[in-house]
Amino acid sequence: MAQEKFYITTPIYYPSDKLHIGHSYCTVATDTMARYKRLRGYDVMFLTGTDEHGQKIERIATSQGMTPKEYTDKIVLGIKELWKTLHISYDRFIRTTDDYHVKGVQKIFKMLYDKGDIYKSSYEGWYCTPCESFFTEHQLVDGKCPDCGRDVELLKEESYFFRLSKYGDRIIKYMEENPEFLQPNTRQNEMISNFLKPGLEDLAVSRTSFKWGIPVEFDPGHIVYVWIDALSNYITAMGWGSDDDSLYQKYWPADVHVVGKEIVRFHSIIWPAMLMALDMPLPKQVFGHGWLIINGGKMSKSVGNVIDPNTLVERYGVDAMRYFLLREVAFGQDGNFNNEALIQRINADLANDLGNLVSRTAGMIEKYFGGTLPAERAASPFDEDLKATAAAVIPNVEREMDHMFFSDALVEIWNLIRRTNKYIDETQPWILCKDPEKKAELANALYHVAESIRIVSILIQPFMPLTPAKIWAQMGIPEGELTAWESTKTWGLMPATFSVQKGETLFPRIDMKKELVELEAAIKASQATSVANQQKAAEKEEESKYPAEITIDDFAKVQLKVGEVLESKEVEGSRKLLRNIVKIGDEERVIFSGIKDSYAPGALVGKRVVVAYNLKPRKMMGEISNGMILCAEDADGKLCVLTTDDKDFASGSEIS
Ligand code: ME8
Ligand code: MG
Repeated sequence: MAQEKFYITTPIYYPSDKLHIGHSYCTVATDTMARYKRLRGYDVMFLTGTDEHGQKIERIATSQGMTPKEYTDKIVLGIKELWKTLHISYDRFIRTTDDYHVKGVQKIFKMLYDKGDIYKSSYEGWYCTPCESFFTEHQLVDGKCPDCGRDVELLKEESYFFRLSKYGDRIIKYMEENPEFLQPNTRQNEMISNFLKPGLEDLAVSRTSFKWGIPVEFDPGHIVYVWIDALSNYITAMGWGSDDDSLYQKYWPADVHVVGKEIVRFHSIIWPAMLMALDMPLPKQVFGHGWLIINGGKMSKSVGNVIDPNTLVERYGVDAMRYFLLREVAFGQDGNFNNEALIQRINADLANDLGNLVSRTAGMIEKYFGGTLPAERAASPFDEDLKATAAAVIPNVEREMDHMFFSDALVEIWNLIRRTNKYIDETQPWILCKDPEKKAELANALYHVAESIRIVSILIQPFMPLTPAKIWAQMGIPEGELTAWESTKTWGLMPATFSVQKGETLFPRIDMKKELVELEAAIKASQATSVANQQKAAEKEEESKYPAEITIDDFAKVQLKVGEVLESKEVEGSRKLLRNIVKIGDEERVIFSGIKDSYAPGALVGKRVVVAYNLKPRKMMGEISNGMILCAEDADGKLCVLTTDDKDFASGSEIS
C-alpha cells in the first residue's frame, strides 16, 4: 500500500526577537503531532515559517536603521535557532519574502481579480497594526482593537476588496457538513454565531499607504494585504503556481492547520473563502488551540509578561519543557503557566514516575545479575494485569493522539508507567533476590518491567525528542525493530537476555523551594531586559513614523493660511468632532476637527485660526472636510487651537 501523506502546518510567525513559550507551545504541539504521524508510518510534510510583510515590520526596521529585509533576515536566524533548541522537526520553512511565494501571491491576487472576486474601491475604517486587522467603528471596544486591546489607526485609502460576503453561506454549509473541519467544536459555534450568521463584509485586501508588502502586479502602488499574503503560504510553500508543483499535488489539501484561537477567524473563514474562489480543495482541519495565560492575561510581548523558552530549556532540558506544555493544559483550552506547577510536574511525573522507574530497573539488573538479565523465567500472578494495562493503553494513546488531545495521551502513557511501578512493588524484587531459588521469578519480574519500559519509551517519542534514546542506551534496547511504534503491540519483544548500562539521571529531582526563588529571578531578569528593549524599540518606532528632517522644499509644499471661524457645531453620531465653517479670504470651507473634548460647540466662533490650506480634502461623516485646523496637544491629549488673535489679522493671510 502506498504511504499515506500527512500535511501539517504551524502559523507562520511574525518576526520577533522574543518568541516566547506561547509561540513555542504552538510549534511544540505541531511538532509532536508530526513526529507521531511519522512514527505511524505517514509521509509527513511539516511546514512552518515567518510572516514578514506589513507596516509593523516596516516601522521597526526603519527605527533600527535597517531595510525591512535586513531586519527580518536577522530575526529569522534567531527563530530558526529557537526551533533547533526545541527540536522542531519541520520539513520546510517558508519566508513570505521568498521569491516563489511572492510570485505565487501575485498570481492568486490576479486570478481572484480576473474572476471578479476582487474589485477596486476605497477603504475607510480602523486598522490594528499589531494584529494586521481591519475593524469597523462598532466592532471596536472602547475605541481599541477588540482582539488585542491596543490602539487602532484610522485608515482612508484606495483599496482592492475581496468579495468575502459572497462565500458566507457556503462556508456555513461546509462547516455543518464537515464537523471535523474546525476543532475543537466550540470554535465552530463561535465562528458561526459571531461572524458567519451576522453576515460577512467584503474584505480590504490591498494597502497603499506604505511599501513593505507584495506589490499588486497590475496596479503598482498597491501592496497585498498581509493576511492574504500570509495565508497563501500554505500552498505556495508546496510550489503551487511555480514550475514545479509536485509537492502541492502530493500534499494539498493540508490535513491540519494548527493555529492559536485569535487567528481561527482568518483560517476558518477568509482562507476557505479564498480557496473556494480559486476552486481549490479546502484544508481538512483547522485546530484552534488556546492561549498560555500568565496571571490571568495572555502571555504576550506587548504586556511584558513573557517567558523565554530558553530560560526553561537551560534549567530543565527540552524534554521536560515540552512535556509540561503539552501535559499541563488540555490542547484547545487556555492554560495558566505557573512555575510551581512546572516544578511539581517535573518532580512527580518525570523524576519520580518515569526517571526513577528506569534507573531503579537498570540498577536492580546490575545489582542482582551483574548487569545482564538471565533467560530463566517463572511467571508471577501480577504479569497478566501489567500486560493487559499495556494492551489497553496503546490504542487509547493512539486515539487521543489522532485527535491531538496530547494531555490525555500523556495521561494514558503515565497510567502504564504508574502500573509498572506498582508491579515492582507487587513483585518485590528486593525480597526475591535474597532467595537463590527465586532467581527465575526475579528475572521474570525484571523482564516484565523492562518490556513495559520499552513500550513507554516508544510512546513518549512524539513528545520527547531526547529521552527515548537515553532509555534505550540504559536498558540495552537496540534501536530499530524494537523501537518501532508497531512493536508496542506485541508484548515480549525484549530479547530473552540483555545487558543494561546505568547512565545519567534522566530527570534530576528539583528542590522546589530553592528553585522557585531562582526560577522567578531568572524569569524577572529576562523580562526586565525584554521590557527595556521593547520600550526603546517602541520609542524609536514612534520617531520613525516621522522623517527626521525635511528640506525647505518639502516644507514649502505646505500652505498655511489664517481663517476665521464662522460656525462651530456638534456632529451627530460623533464623540470627538466639531463641524466648522471657516472663512479663508473670500472662500468658505467646511473643516471637521476632533476637538470636542477641548472646545464647546460655538467656542471657536470669531477666532482667527491657522488652517492647513492645501491638504487633500477627505470625506468625514458623509461630507468633505477641506483642510485642517492646527492645534497644539499637551501630554494629556488636551488641544489648543493656534490663533492669530493677538494681532487683528485678515482671514486668508499666508503663514510662512
Ligand atoms: O498570528 N499562547 O503570528 P504570531 C498560545 N503571522 N499561543 C500563542 C500565544 C500564547 N500566549 N502567543 C502567541 C500570527 N501564540 C500570524 C499568523 S498564519 C498564515 C499567520 C501563537 O507570531 C498564536 O496564537 O502573532 C499563533 O498561532 C502563533 O503563536 C503565531 O503568532
Ligand atoms: Mg499574534
